[in-house]
Amino acid sequence: MIGEVVELEVGPVAHGGHCIARLDGQVVFVRHALPGERVLARITEGDAGRSFLRADVVEVRVASPERVRPPCPHAGVCGGCDFQHVTLAEQRRLKAAVVREQFQRLARLDLAELGLDPVVEPVPGDADGLGWRTRVEFAVDPATGVAGLRRHRSHEVVPVERCLIASPGITEAAVTDRTWDADSVEVVETSHGQVVVTVLPSQARRERRIVERVEALDTDLALDARGFWQVHPGAASTFVDAVLTMLDPQPGERALDLYAGVGLFAVALAERVGPLGQVVAVESDGRATGYARENLAGHRQALVLDGRVDDLFGVPRHERSGGRRRPARRRRRGVRSPLLPHTASVVVLDPPRIGAGADVVRAIAALGARAVAYVACDPAALARDVATFQESGYVLAGLRCFDAFPMTHHVECVALLTRADSDAG
Ligand SMILES: C[S@@+](CC[C@H](N)C(=O)[O-])C[C@H]1O[C@@H](n2cnc3c(N)ncnc32)[C@H](O)[C@@H]1O
Repeated sequence: MIGEVVELEVGPVAHGGHCIARLDGQVVFVRHALPGERVLARITEGDAGRSFLRADVVEVRVASPERVRPPCPHAGVCGGCDFQHVTLAEQRRLKAAVVREQFQRLARLDLAELGLDPVVEPVPGDADGLGWRTRVEFAVDPATGVAGLRRHRSHEVVPVERCLIASPGITEAAVTDRTWDADSVEVVETSHGQVVVTVLPSQARRERRIVERVEALDTDLALDARGFWQVHPGAASTFVDAVLTMLDPQPGERALDLYAGVGLFAVALAERVGPLGQVVAVESDGRATGYARENLAGHRQALVLDGRVDDLFGVPRHERSGGRRRPARRRRRGVRSPLLPHTASVVVLDPPRIGAGADVVRAIAALGARAVAYVACDPAALARDVATFQESGYVLAGLRCFDAFPMTHHVECVALLTRADSDAG
């Protein structure tokens, strides 16, 4: 069956950058299609016995009016972009549809009924969805030493002369113009225009301090070049603005910043709660916590805790292994850290794609915060965690979605949760 070309009527968009079609009743996830199209697609994964197939468009028979010629010649081959064949406005509508569907399916929430029907907003500074990506990992082909980008769901390295979504400084670094004796090459362009190239694995341990500007805070934050930072140059400021608007932290309040990185939200919260308030930031990456302390040095009311959020709450670890949750025998309950407060006024959480998980969400809810801002890069994980917040006495009171990754299927959401027993929100 793999390799077979089939004709498909394309249905709605689904989470993951593809649309849904059916072949003799079997679900087919079709890449590079659009809802309403009729296409010829080649089966790339699965067989008749599997619950679903994957396919990729080879010819469009009836095209959507939202279809455009991809600006990048590698679109469809390189796995980096899913939506180069779609107008930018429609990309955002597709992402909004995915967010809507995930909340309906995983949280049983009709966002339109709640008055929160998602609109995916552009991140400031985005004209055409190109030239925004300030962090790119180029993979090196072990046979040729050429640096390129990986094919979708494959280790194969696709040679590219340039990546159109990469920022100008990354393009100028010309990593793809030469060969490398390496596994991969990471390139970062900071908001100050500094370009840092890290060759892996040989430079994996080398620490390189960079600074990133956060306009919303009128400040620079320090971090390691390989540490977490939002890849879109406008994203960090935009999310800080969104979180502060939602939480409206007040002088004297206690705030938690969970999954804090180098303290982006902790700095914002510290400025709002002032010297009579308190901020506790939690982050598991030891290098990031070092920078968080440096970034928060002017805020004596801020405390940075090293460690996993689940460990510090003393709840079972939330993690995946090979795409599956770890078996129950490894989910041991720990001891709650005495450094973690038992109450808070406001909480920000910004977990990795896996989300916070039910145990952490229950622990956050037990803090009794008047408002929680959840920053999420995966709408499915967000919807699952929002369902747990609802079971724990919170309601979804706000939702903003941002196109922080144009041309890809990724979308960033910021959700506001308030206590069901209060009038707030
Ligand atoms: C999406 S990033 C957010 C970082 C920061 N809020 C920012 O905006 O720059 C997620 C962060 O969570 C950290 N992390 C991942 N799993 C964690 C865990 N179980 N407990 C604490 N931090 C974790 C990662 O190291 C990373 O810094």
